[in-house]
Amino acid sequence: MYDFRIAAADTATMYRDLASALEGLVQGETDAVANMANATALIFETLPDVNWVGFYRNIDGELVLGPFQGRPACIRIAFGTGVCGVAAETRQVQRVADVNAFPGHIACDSASRSEIVLPLVRDGELLGVLDIDSPRPARFDEEDEAGLRPIAEILAKAI
Ligand code: SME
Repeated sequence: MYDFRIAAADTATMYRDLASALEGLVQGETDAVANMANATALIFETLPDVNWVGFYRNIDGELVLGPFQGRPACIRIAFGTGVCGVAAETRQVQRVADVNAFPGHIACDSASRSEIVLPLVRDGELLGVLDIDSPRPARFDEEDEAGLRPIAEILAKAI
């Protein structure tokens, strides 16, 4: 049984604890699906105010839904389309305070109001993206982005 109790201390500490829990969870496991599945469960359980956490994988230049927590989501997303597609195409973190104001945003769960998407790159190759949605507008600030970047790095090695 894994029982990670990550206290809701200050944001930076919470993300550091989340990163070390994730390191422990994926350590020694090479199966990408297992690691993605456990990562979504850990992140979904730890972060307050999130309604969707999941992966889109780069399959031959198209984003295809991977393991996630939350409501059923759109399966395929073209590079350049929506928040995930822009993150994949530009390989830049997309932090969106108001998803309804983002051109081409794909509404998978109408409850989502803000979103952060982190590209997962290993050895110059885009493996996919990690998408986290919130029902609260502007849920993700710079501190969240700073805390999630190391998590994306851990994931890029584990998937
Ligand atoms: N909102 C995303 C699509 C994925 S879902 O939110 C799970 C986007 O525009 O890329």
